[in-house]
Amino acid sequence: MAIGSIADLLLLGSEKDLASERGVSCAGELPAASDPDLIERARTARAKLGDQAYILGHHYQRDEVIAFADVTGDSFKLAQAAAKRPEAKYIVFCGVHFMAESADILTSEGQQVLLPDLAAGCSMADMASGEQVARCWDQLGELGLTKGTIPVTYMNSSAAIKAFTGRNGGTICTSSNARTALSWALEQGERVLFLPDQHLGRNTAVMQLGIPLDQCVVWDPWKPMGGLTEEQLRNAKMILWRGHCSVHGRFTLESVNEVRNRIPGVTVLVHPECTHEVATAADLVGSTEFIIKTVAAAPAGSSWAIGTELNLVQRLAETYKDKHITFLDKAVCYCSTMNRIDLPHLVWTLESLVEGRVVNRIMVEPEVAKYAKVALDRMLALP
Ligand code: 13P
Ligand code: SF4
Repeated sequence: MAIGSIADLLLLGSEKDLASERGVSCAGELPAASDPDLIERARTARAKLGDQAYILGHHYQRDEVIAFADVTGDSFKLAQAAAKRPEAKYIVFCGVHFMAESADILTSEGQQVLLPDLAAGCSMADMASGEQVARCWDQLGELGLTKGTIPVTYMNSSAAIKAFTGRNGGTICTSSNARTALSWALEQGERVLFLPDQHLGRNTAVMQLGIPLDQCVVWDPWKPMGGLTEEQLRNAKMILWRGHCSVHGRFTLESVNEVRNRIPGVTVLVHPECTHEVATAADLVGSTEFIIKTVAAAPAGSSWAIGTELNLVQRLAETYKDKHITFLDKAVCYCSTMNRIDLPHLVWTLESLVEGRVVNRIMVEPEVAKYAKVALDRMLALP
C-alpha cells in the first residue's frame, strides 16, 4: 500500500487508540469471518428487527455490507434518509464516525445511531481537532481577521468542528454543494477558512470560482500562526486547512498520463478530494453522487478511468458491464477505515440489538449538536 505521508502512517497506526477513545467496541464477541452461516445470521437478525432498524450503507462500503443496506448514498443523503425514518429506533450506520455523528445530530431524540465498528474513523476528519481549530481562530482574532473570515467546513469533519462553524457564522458543505457554499460565504465576508480538506477547498475555489491560486494559503496547525505571515493571511481569499484524504490524495498525475496512453479515448473522472494537479489533469471532477450519475448516463462502450474509493469503482464496473471502467491508479487502495465495517461487525451489531443490547452508540453532546445543527441548517438553506 502506498503511504501518502507520515500523518497517514500515524493515523493508520492509531486506529486502535481512536477506537478505544471513542468507547467500547466488540472485543471477544465478534463472529468469525470464516463462519459459513454469517449471511444467514445477518438475514435472520435483520428480519427479527423489522422496521425498528434501518441500515444505511455509504457508497464506499464493501459489497457484503451493501447487500444488507436499506438505503445507499453519500454521507449527507444518508443522514437525511435516517431523519426521514422516525419509526426506525435504531439507525445502523455502515460508514464512518463523522457520518454517524451527523445522523445523530439530524435524527430525533427517540432514534439511536450505531456504528458497527468504532475504529471506522476518517483520517481527514481527524486532521482537524477542536483545540487546533480554536487555536487557529484565536490567532486570526489577534490579527483582527476573524470578523471578515467565514468558516466553511466539509461534511467530513467531527461534530466539534461543525459546532465551531455554527458558532462562528459559517456553513457546512458537501462535495456536491461546495461551490454554492463558498459563493455564499464570500458574500458574507472577505475570506473563507476552509476545513479540513485543502484539496476540495482549493479545487472548488480555483476551478469553479476562478479565485487565483496565490490567494489560497494553507494553514498548518502544527506551526505558529499556521506557518503564514500576517500579509499572506490578510491577502488570502481562502485559508485552507492542512488536511487531506489519505485515499484520494494518493492519485497522481502520472496515473492520469499513464491511463490516457494506455486507453485511447478514456474519460478521466475524479473526486474533488484529489490533489489540484490531478483534478486539473482530469476531464471531469465531481462528488460521489456525480460520479455515479455520470457513469450511469454514459453511452455503452465508453471508457472511464475513475479516481475515487475502490469499493465504489469496482461496484460501478460490475453494474455497468457494457462500459469499460478502470480504477485510475493501481497503487491506491480501499479506504481502510470504511472497510472496517464488514459482515462480522454487522452481524454482531444486529444480533446484539435482537438481544436488546445497543452497542457502539454514537451520541453527540447536546451543546455540540445544537451548534453543529446551526451550521448544517445554514447549508440546507443555501440556494
Ligand atoms: P461523500 O460526501 O460523497 O459521501 O464523500 C464522503 C467521503 O468520505 C469522500 O471521501
Ligand atoms: Fe475519509 Fe478519505 Fe475515507 Fe472518505 S475516503 S472516509 S475522506 S479517509
